Amino acid sequence: MDYKKYIADKINVAGVGSDEIASSITLPPNSQMGDYALPCFKFAKVLRKSPVAIAEALAADIIPDDVISEVAAVNGYVNFRINKDGLSREVIQKIFEEWQNYGGSSVGAGKTVCIDYSSVNIAKPFHIGHLSTTVIGSSLYKIFKFLGYNAVGINHLGDYGTQFGKLISAYKHWGNRDEVQNGGIHAINDLYVRFNNEADEQMEREAREYFRLIESGDREANELFEWFKSLTLEYVKKIYERLNVHFDSYAGERFYTDKMAPVIEELKQKGLLKESNGAQIVDLEPYGMPPCLILRSDGASLYATRDIAAAIYRKKTYDFYKCLYVVAYQQNLHFRQFFKVLELMGKEWAKDLVHVAYGMVSLEDGAMSTRKGKVVWLEDVIAKCVEKAYAVINEKNPALENKDEIAEKVGIGAVIFGALYNNKIKDITFSYDKVLSFEGETSVYVQYTCARAMSVIEKSAGYEACLPDSIEPVEEEFEVVKALAAFPDVVLDAAEKYEPSYVARYAVDLAQKFNKFYFDCKILTAQSGVKNFRILLTKCVLRTLENALGLLGIGVPDKM
Ligand code: ARG
Repeated sequence: MDYKKYIADKINVAGVGSDEIASSITLPPNSQMGDYALPCFKFAKVLRKSPVAIAEALAADIIPDDVISEVAAVNGYVNFRINKDGLSREVIQKIFEEWQNYGGSSVGAGKTVCIDYSSVNIAKPFHIGHLSTTVIGSSLYKIFKFLGYNAVGINHLGDYGTQFGKLISAYKHWGNRDEVQNGGIHAINDLYVRFNNEADEQMEREAREYFRLIESGDREANELFEWFKSLTLEYVKKIYERLNVHFDSYAGERFYTDKMAPVIEELKQKGLLKESNGAQIVDLEPYGMPPCLILRSDGASLYATRDIAAAIYRKKTYDFYKCLYVVAYQQNLHFRQFFKVLELMGKEWAKDLVHVAYGMVSLEDGAMSTRKGKVVWLEDVIAKCVEKAYAVINEKNPALENKDEIAEKVGIGAVIFGALYNNKIKDITFSYDKVLSFEGETSVYVQYTCARAMSVIEKSAGYEACLPDSIEPVEEEFEVVKALAAFPDVVLDAAEKYEPSYVARYAVDLAQKFNKFYFDCKILTAQSGVKNFRILLTKCVLRTLENALGLLGIGVPDKM
C-alpha cells in the first residue's frame, strides 16, 4: 500500500490535489513524533489560516482506522502513526514477492534514457578525474533500468583531435611496435608525454600533417590510429569490468565525422551561422553566453559541433525521453551553449537534454593531472584500495577463505562508494583510510552488516520462518520496517534528482538501523513468533541492502 497516498486521500484542503498532498508528506526526523507527517505551512496562503490552526482542523477531521492508528496536530504539522502490524506484514510480504526487484518498478516502461558517461579519451590516461563520471553514470544507468526505463549507456569516446597526429609522429620517431603492443596505454601515454616535452617545430608540423592524413582517410595513419584506439579500449574495458560498468555504445566523437555537414547546413539555412574572424559561430550574446564555435577558420569542426551532431543522432536513433551527460561542472558552459544552439535550431526536445554535473575528486596525498605526465591513474587507485582492503580484512579475520575475492569486492566497493556517497556537485577529497573504515559511512560498513545478517540467516538454516499471526514490533524493529518501506521512494528520488548518493546514504541508514536492532534485540533466541518476525526482517534487510549496493555496482561478500 502507498501510505502517503492513503493518508492524503483522507485529507481535504480546498484547491490542493491529493497527489500534491501525498508528495508533501514526509518522514519526521525523529520517530517520537510519528511515522509520517504533513507540514501545513504551505497551505496557509490558500486557506488564509495559520499553519497551527490548519493542522488542528485537519487532524480533528481524521478518524483513526486499521491503517492510521493515531493522529495529532503539533506546531503546524499533522503527525500520523500507522498500524505497525499492518506495515510490517506488508513490507515483508512485498520484499519476499519482489526480491531482487524490490525497490524497482515499471514507471519508466516505454521510455528511453540515454546516459553519456565515462567518455574516455583515446590514448590518454584513464585517471582519477574519470572516476566520478564513470561510477555516477553507471549507477544512474542501473537505477533507470531498475525503474523500467530503457537505459542506453554511451561512451562518447574522445577519439578526435590533433593529439593523434602528435602520437603518430612520436611513434614514428621513438616508438617500437612490440613495446607499444605490450606496454599498451602506458607506452602510448609515454610517447604522448615525450612529444609534449620534446617535440620541436619540425615534429609539430609533422603532427599536423599526420592528423590531416587521418582525416583524409590515409590507410597507414588510420591503421595506427585504430591500433592506439583498440589498445586503449582493451585497457579501459578491464577496469569497467572490475567496476561493474557497462556500455551499450562506444560511438565516440569520430563517429560523427560524416554527420556534421548536415548540421552545419541546417544551421546555415536557419540563419544561425555567423562569420567571425574567419570562423563560423552561433551568436549567443542575447542569452548571456560567449558564442558557440562551430567551425574554426581552417574549417575544422569543434567539440561542440560534434556534440550537436551527436544529440541529433541520439534523438533520431533512440528517440530518448531524456539524454543525460554525466560530465564535470567545468564543462557547464559548453553544455549550456550547445543545448541553446539546439533550442535555437527549433529542436523542441532540447529541453530533454540534461547536464548532470559533478564536482572534482582529488587525492588526499597528491595533485591532479598535468599535461607533462604527472597523473594519478584510476588503475592505481583501485589497486591500492584492493590492497588496503586485503590488509584490513586480514587483520580483522585472518582465518577467512577467499580473501582475494573478498578484498576485490571490498576494495572496489570503497572506490565506488567513496566517489558517490556525497552529493555529486561537491568537490571531494578521496582518502583511502576513510573509504575503508568499518566504522564510517562506508560501503565496507554496509558490506560488513550484510555479512552479519548472512551469519544470522545461516545460523537459522533449517528453521522455517513464517509471518506470525500478530506482530507487535518494538521500536528498533519498527525503525527497520519503516526504513525498508522507504526504499522504493529513495530509488525514485535518486532517479529524479540524478543522485545515486541517495541510494548510498540510504544503504548506510538501513545498515545502521539494522545494527541497532541486531544489538538490542535477540534474534535467534527470541520466542517463536518474535523469532520468526526477526528472522524474516533480517532476510529482508539483507536483500534490500544487496539491491541498494547493486544499484551502485557494488557486490556483497558472503563472509567478512
Ligand atoms: N571526453 C570528454 C572529456 O574527457 C568528455 C565527454 C563528455 N561527453 C560529451 N558528450 N561531451 O572531457
